[in-house]
This record gives sequence, structure tokens and C-alpha cells, in this order.
Amino acid sequence: MKKNILITGGAGFIGSHVVRRFVKKYPEYHIFNLDVLTYAGNLENLKDIENEDNYTFLKGDITDENYINEIFDTYKFSSIIHLAAESHVDRSISDPLAFAKTNILGTMILLNAAKNTWNNDFQNKVFYHVSTDEVYGTLGETGLFTENTSYDPNSPYSASKASSDHFVRAYGETYDLPYKISNCSNNYGSFQFPEKLIPLFINNIITEKPLPVYGDGNYTRDWLYVEDHAIAIDAVFHKGVMKETYNIGGFNEWKNINLVHLLCEIMDEKLGRSSENSSKSLITYVKDRPGHDLRYAIDASKIENELGWYPSVTFEQGLEKTIDWYLNNKEWLSNVISGEYQEYYNNQYNK
Ligand code: NAD
Ligand code: TYD
Repeated sequence: MKKNILITGGAGFIGSHVVRRFVKKYPEYHIFNLDVLTYAGNLENLKDIENEDNYTFLKGDITDENYINEIFDTYKFSSIIHLAAESHVDRSISDPLAFAKTNILGTMILLNAAKNTWNNDFQNKVFYHVSTDEVYGTLGETGLFTENTSYDPNSPYSASKASSDHFVRAYGETYDLPYKISNCSNNYGSFQFPEKLIPLFINNIITEKPLPVYGDGNYTRDWLYVEDHAIAIDAVFHKGVMKETYNIGGFNEWKNINLVHLLCEIMDEKLGRSSENSSKSLITYVKDRPGHDLRYAIDASKIENELGWYPSVTFEQGLEKTIDWYLNNKEWLSNVISGEYQEYYNNQYNK
């Protein structure tokens, strides 16, 4: 019998890469992708695997307790890889309650369903929570986040993810629920919704719209190619120690403004724009994000030393693949930004 694995948020950016990897690499698993398809979830992201025998899509909401209990009852999942979340910091500033509902309550409903279904038989079971380095708050100019860094979240998004991490751990301590957590830095790559920095700016360079750099642009993020995150999730899921946390990062820090310049340079070359006509002229400094974390940077030595994981592509390779993907998938881009997202996008960026 195949092992039933529930992956939540599989129609989103990172989730679609994880679902694809697991469906293709592990025919001995049956992968159930549970997603409510918010603006950020799109089944087009999984077109290439939708007819595989070991794949089933379930449309549903992690905050719908009856539905969640029902599917746990029916499919008796032995493992959960939980990615479904509201994931964009700017949206969490304008609508924090939506983040508390999905990220905290939704995670608790899944934890409860796992606990009740497993009923103290924890053999070969795991609840894997995919989380973010933003739970650690902000760094100054130096230092790195380790697995022992105290949680100190600053945005409603990071506070909701910190809270859900705490609940996962609490279920481990209180009910002995087997869990794993990973906290990853900023991802980029194909199928990322164009509201996060890299795909938003790629899209705006293509369409010659302003590139809204928050504050002075001297904020630092550590960027990881999404397929390397999926490989890391695979490693933690299969080889990670139960009740442990793993930090995942790209060993790749960039100040936003330097990253934006690099993006413009690569895209100018691909789009045949001369230096006089450079996309850099689209850069527009705008009002800063409230509570903007200065710097994120991950010490990923634990996953490197214990699980043998290290990013497989350099930033230059990953960025090139990503830009090429967006240039070759303009239809995907225009599809995902039509509809309900358009209004938000216009309010946010075309003021
Ligand atoms: P995303 O916004 O692209 O996708 C989230 C998915 O969750 C979407 O498909 C959406 O439809 C689904 N979803 C949202 N609410 C739901 C609900 N109530 N019920 C069922 N499905 C729901 O997000 P992402 O960037 O792919 O992030 C995935 C996970 O990884 C999140 O938990 C996020 O916190 C975490 N993470 C993201 C990053 C990053 O850089 N993007 C970095 C570290 C960790
Ligand atoms: P983002 O992609 O939203 O990820 P996060 O906030 O989770 O790190 O933003 C990455 C960085 O880019 C962050 O410092 C905010 C900045 N940023 C801009 O300057 N302009 C933008 O339009 C966006 C979306 C982000």
C-alpha cells in the first residue's frame, strides 16, 4: 500500500515545487495536495503532474475544521508537510487577521486532526511545518540566525508564523506529536506570485513600470533558489531528526538595491535595452514598509553538516533560470495578475 502524504499549500510557489519533486521522485507515496486556491494558489503551477497516478488534488481550507477532520478520517495521512499560509508581509500589514486565521488557527486545526487520527500511534508519522527565518526578527549589520536564536518577530506575518511554530512544538511537548520544523530564508524561482520583490520587479521591468524600492534600499535578504528549498525539505523530511529545527539558507546575502541593479543589468541584456535606455531608470524610491526588518541571514551549517544539504545552484545561475522562466511564461504572469489580484496590485503599485 502506498503511504498517504498530505502536502498543504501545494498550488502555491514553494508548495508546487515540493509536490512536483515528491510525486516524481517517490512513486511509493500518494501525494494529496490540499489547497484552497487563494490569489497565490494556481493549478497551472502543477499542469505537468496533474495526471500522475500517485497525485490527488483536494480543494479545501485548512481553517475548515469539519472538512479537515473528514479528509484525515478518509485518507489516514501518515505524514503532513504543511506549507499553506498567507505569505506576504505587506498584506499582513493591511490585513493581519487573515494571517492569524490561516497561519495560526489553520495550523492548529491540522495539528489537532493529526493528533486525533494518530491517536498515540506515532510510528512512522510526522508533522513537518515549513516556516520562515522571519520568526527570528531582524539582525544588525553582522551575525547570523542559528536554530538557537530567540524568536522576535516584527511583522504580523512573522508573528503568525512564530506562533504556529510554537504550537507545533507545544503539540510535540504536550502530546508527544512527532514533528519537524524548518526555517528558511527568502526564496525565488519559477511560479512565484509577482508581489514579492524578485518576480514583481521582473514583471515591472518587462512592462516598463516603476520599480518601487522601499526606504533607501539598504535592507538585506539571504536568497535561496526554490528548487534548492524543495531539496532541503526532502532532506529534512527523510533524514531530519524528530522534534528538531533546521535553518535553511542560501549563503547569499544581497542588499535590495544591489539586487535590483543586478536584475536590471541581466534583463537589459536579455531585452536588448541599451545603457541609455536601462531599466534602472524605472527604480523609484517609495515610502518604507512599517516595521521593516533590516537584515536576514541564515547560518545553515546544521543542515549542511548533519543532512549533507547545500544549495546546488549559484545565485547567478538561479536568477538567470528565473528570469528566463518569467520571460517564457508571460501568459502565466498575465493570468495570475488578472482577476482579484489586479485591484490590490493597482492600489499598491500604481498610486
Ligand atoms: P504562497 O503564498 O505562494 O502559497 C501559499 C499557498 O497556500 C497558496 O497556494 C494558497 O492558495 C494556499 N493557502 C492559503 N491559505 C490557505 C488555506 N486557508 N487553506 C488551504 N490553502 C491555503 O506561499 P509560498 O511563498 O509558497 O510559501 C509557502 C510556505 O513557505 C509558507 O508557509 C511560508 O510561510 C513559507 N516560507 C516562504 C518563504 C518565501 O520566501 N516565499 C520563505 C520561507 C518560508
Ligand atoms: P519581499 O519579497 O516582500 O520578502 P520579505 O519581506 O518576506 O523579505 O521583500 C524582500 C525585500 O524587498 C524586503 O526588504 C522588502 C523589499 N521590497 C521592496 O523594496 N519593494 C517591493 O515592492 C517589495 C515587494 C519588497
